[in-house]
Amino acid sequence: MADARAQQSGLPYRLLGRSGLRVSRLALGTMTFGEKAWGCDEETACAILDRYVAAGGNLIDTADVYSGGESERIIGRYVADRGLRDQMVIASKFSFGSGGAGPNATGNGRKSMMTALEGSLRRLGTDHLDLYYLHIWDGITPAEEVMRGLDDLVRSGKVRYVALSDVTGWYAARAQTLAEWRGYEPLCALQLEYSLIERGLELEFPTLCDELGTGIVAWAPLCNGLLSGKYRPSQKGELAAGRVDTVNKAGRFDRLTDRNWAIVAKLEEVAGKLGRPMAQVAINWVAARRGVDAVLLGATRVAQIEETLQSLDFTIPAELLAELDAVSALPRIFPYRFLDSAQPRVRPQLS
Ligand SMILES: NC(=O)c1ccc[n+]([C@@H]2O[C@H](COP(=O)([O-])OP(=O)(O)OC[C@H]3O[C@@H](n4cnc5c(N)ncnc54)[C@H](OP(=O)(O)O)[C@@H]3O)[C@@H](O)[C@H]2O)c1
Repeated sequence: MADARAQQSGLPYRLLGRSGLRVSRLALGTMTFGEKAWGCDEETACAILDRYVAAGGNLIDTADVYSGGESERIIGRYVADRGLRDQMVIASKFSFGSGGAGPNATGNGRKSMMTALEGSLRRLGTDHLDLYYLHIWDGITPAEEVMRGLDDLVRSGKVRYVALSDVTGWYAARAQTLAEWRGYEPLCALQLEYSLIERGLELEFPTLCDELGTGIVAWAPLCNGLLSGKYRPSQKGELAAGRVDTVNKAGRFDRLTDRNWAIVAKLEEVAGKLGRPMAQVAINWVAARRGVDAVLLGATRVAQIEETLQSLDFTIPAELLAELDAVSALPRIFPYRFLDSAQPRVRPQLS
């Protein structure tokens, strides 16, 4: 989407999807804030926020479920203390709930959505959210109900813009088409996992976003830290301390495959040639991908955010981009492979 690089210092801004909302191309993910097992405490979270704001960042991403609501509370206190509410674009999400009981305490139905929003506003200490996401498709709630509910929230003044996260292509396309035809507030963004390791969204979403006017907000650009530079193929089996290590010990990290180690090795090589930290190169790669309007930075330490905030300060040359693309390319599957080979036979050359 169109760049709006009118900014005093630091990070560039962009319009989010086809909306008029100006967001910095690097967003701040706050899933680590208040998270005891692999996150950081409030003091560190505020220091990370300080660095982010000083760099010109304006998009803070949270969710009701992050650290049981503590992430939202920390952001609410920070923004109030610093008088930053109007300057920042605060995004939150609903689906997972924040501890309520009964079958409507989670999910995407109207009852869950409305209750979740009230909880988020209370914890954030604000009367509106700038951006509200459905966090994850629950597999059952009709898109009609979700889009009508989100539209009601915009009309009530409690939400400014709406978006979906972690949905399939067909569901996003149906939701946006309903919004267009029924006059509901359209989606301005889709939040999806995107990194050199996780490229699955490329099958559907860049084209979908072009067609439907949504921007991609990419989460986990470092694959939870695996691409951060502290894990190298030579250290296989003896990982450095970090979330990957913690989650791996609990048997829940399934990304330590030969393919992924080959990607880490190539990233290390390319970063060496560029004289840049691996984390910056991994984030830069995501930011330059088609359809990506903003990339979410996650951090547990101030030094990490100081490093990753510089991820857009350089361009990866085409020949090195090609090497990264090649090592991380996904197999072409049906129908995409078939379309690639057969479409030229049914499509004339158009000038
Ligand atoms: N919509 C969704 O379903 C969804 C899902 C997940 C995340 N998100 C959003 O995306 C944000 C980012 O996700 P993520 O935290 O998984 O992102 P990530 O970029 O893949 O991983 C971030 C982690 O990498 C490590 N790290 C970051 N910078 C580093 C550096 N310079 N050097 C060394 N290590 C570094 C830190 O972990 P350690 O220090 O522990 O190694 C940090 O917590 C979240 O905060 C959240 O807002 C959304």
